[in-house]
Order: sequence, then structure tokens, then C-alpha cells
Amino acid sequence: MDITRRGFLKGAIGLAGAGMAGALTVPALKSLLPPPVTRCNEDDAHETLTYKGESGKWYENMNGIVAKKEDFKLWDVAIVNWGPKVLEEELGACEIQLTLVKVSTENGMKELGVEDDGGNSTMMAYHTYKCPHLCCKPVFKTEGTSAISGGDYENMFLCPCHLSLFDPMSINEETDELGRKVMAAELLEGPAPYGLPVVPIAEKDGGLIGLTTHLEWLKYCGQG
Ligand code: FES
Repeated sequence: MDITRRGFLKGAIGLAGAGMAGALTVPALKSLLPPPVTRCNEDDAHETLTYKGESGKWYENMNGIVAKKEDFKLWDVAIVNWGPKVLEEELGACEIQLTLVKVSTENGMKELGVEDDGGNSTMMAYHTYKCPHLCCKPVFKTEGTSAISGGDYENMFLCPCHLSLFDPMSINEETDELGRKVMAAELLEGPAPYGLPVVPIAEKDGGLIGLTTHLEWLKYCGQG
């Protein structure tokens, strides 16, 4: 039989590969890998939404306490910390800040938030950690006048960098720049490409927790 040098080498490499694969099973190979690098302290992970004690705010003395819907009156707003375990793996962050607001209940909010006051109000969490435009932090404004349209507004999120305005009462399914569906507070004006994503929340042991069911909604501006 005429075996060329190239053919011989190919066969030899194939046999060697098969031998290696047989000798080292997948678990064995995994054990040879270095452990994943983690920055977050697992003991600090929390699915709960805990108050970020900000001076001058109604919750300034509640730093680290788990937020409850009963703490809020209609249109009360608070910045909370959220640090579930999967956040690091999915978004590259140990803990992020969200804005919790008790809003009047509108269609579609029940599935995303926590109802209160006999169904007339709903606790909602908004991803104010990063604006979907160029990653600034939108802030809640009880009232103001738009520098873009000149119109007056009440109870909106305003991004201080380029003045995108988001309506927390109008939650819609929108499409992000990668074509993914995102539930977000409607963009009323400004250069943001779509609305401000919400984070679904629930109640557990009397306190509020953030759900990690839709972390893909938050994967922009270098997160994820
Ligand atoms: S970063 Fe928010 S509008 Fe530009």
C-alpha cells in the first residue's frame, strides 16, 4: 500500500488525539482549568432591594434595609441596591442601583411589579443604573420643563446628559439596538435609542426582591 508521508502524519495525529481524548475525560479536563476569576464576595450577594441611604432623602436612615411596598406612598421614589449572585456572571457587576417608584397601576404592570393599595398602585423598579443612550444615570423628576420641547412634565425620568425623557407610567415592549425585545419605560423625547428598561420585581418574606429572569434587558453600555 502506498502511504504518503502526509497521510501517515494525519493518521498519527488522529490516533494521538483519540488517545488523549480517551485518557482525559471532560471532568478531568475541567479540573485542569484554573478556577474562574471572581471579584464579588459571595457572602454579600443579595436578591433583595436594599435602601441606599442618601442624605436628604426620606430613606436616608434606612441604609441597607430591605425595601417594603408599605414604606412607600404614591410617587415616593428611592434608590436601592441589588446584587444577586448571577449579576457578576451576566453583567460583570457585583451590585447595581435601581430606582424604585410606587406608581399608579396601569395595564401590564402587574406582571412586572408588586401591586399595593388594593391594586391601585404598583411598585416598579427601573434600570437607572445606565441610560440606553450613552450610559449616564437618569434621575426621577417630580416636575420640570423640557429643554427640548418646552413642555411641562410631571413624574418622569430625565437623563441629565442629553435630556432623554422617559415615562414610568407607560411600559411597552421595545426593541433594542441588537434587535432584542425589552420591556421599558417609554422614551418621550431625546436621543436615547429606546426606553428605560424595567427590572421585574416580586415580594418575598414581606420585602421586595429583584428577579433575574430578564437580565438580557440590561445588557448594554458594557454590561454583559
Ligand atoms: S446618556 Fe442619556 S440621553 Fe444621552
